[in-house]
Amino acid sequence: MAIEFYRKMSDNDVNAIVAYLRSVKPIRNQVEKSTYKIPLPEAYGPPVTKVPDPPRGNKVMYGRYLADIGHCMECHTPMAKGQLDMTRVGAGGRELPAIPGGVVVTPNLTPANPDGISHWTNAQVKDSITKGVRPDGRALVRLMAFDWYKNIEGRDLDALVAYLRTLKAAKP
Ligand code: HEC
Repeated sequence: MAIEFYRKMSDNDVNAIVAYLRSVKPIRNQVEKSTYKIPLPEAYGPPVTKVPDPPRGNKVMYGRYLADIGHCMECHTPMAKGQLDMTRVGAGGRELPAIPGGVVVTPNLTPANPDGISHWTNAQVKDSITKGVRPDGRALVRLMAFDWYKNIEGRDLDALVAYLRTLKAAKP
């Protein structure tokens, strides 16, 4: 669970998600109890009190909010000492289980990537997020959640791309 990112979700958005979850039809499914192979942190930070609505008027700040609640940077940020290294946010390099099998390395979204999105047009970046295709025609592995991101509306997608364009050059 991307709790570090979801902590920033506004009260109104989290309430909307809860309302949606309550509307999901019951489906019986026997699920085994989880066993944890990693130590769990004592806390994910101080208790969250009130989180206001994101600043829609500020394109970059709003795009950052969307990237947070879309937990984009959880996959696209390298780890250091068992934690996301937020000094290199967006630099990629994480080895993750690909769908349907194997391993996929997350691309570097910062300008330090010579083949990366800083050399793509806005339309090309949007197509990779919502359709899972790169400018060279290669399809992205389904772990990148383009099947879900395809419904991001135009204004939100513009904000998301505006935020991605502000990432500082960093190596994975
Ligand atoms: C669960 C992990 C995960 C999440 C969450 C995720 N991505 Fe990705 N993303 C990937 C992987 C893996 C790839 C590369 C797939 C491949 O190479 O086939 C990728 C590829 C991309 C690419 C193409 C870049 C390139 O150089 O090829 C962009 C742009 C991108 N992601 C942006 C985003 C944005 C924006 C979000 C949030 C809205 C996001 N990603 C969320 C895993 C993730």
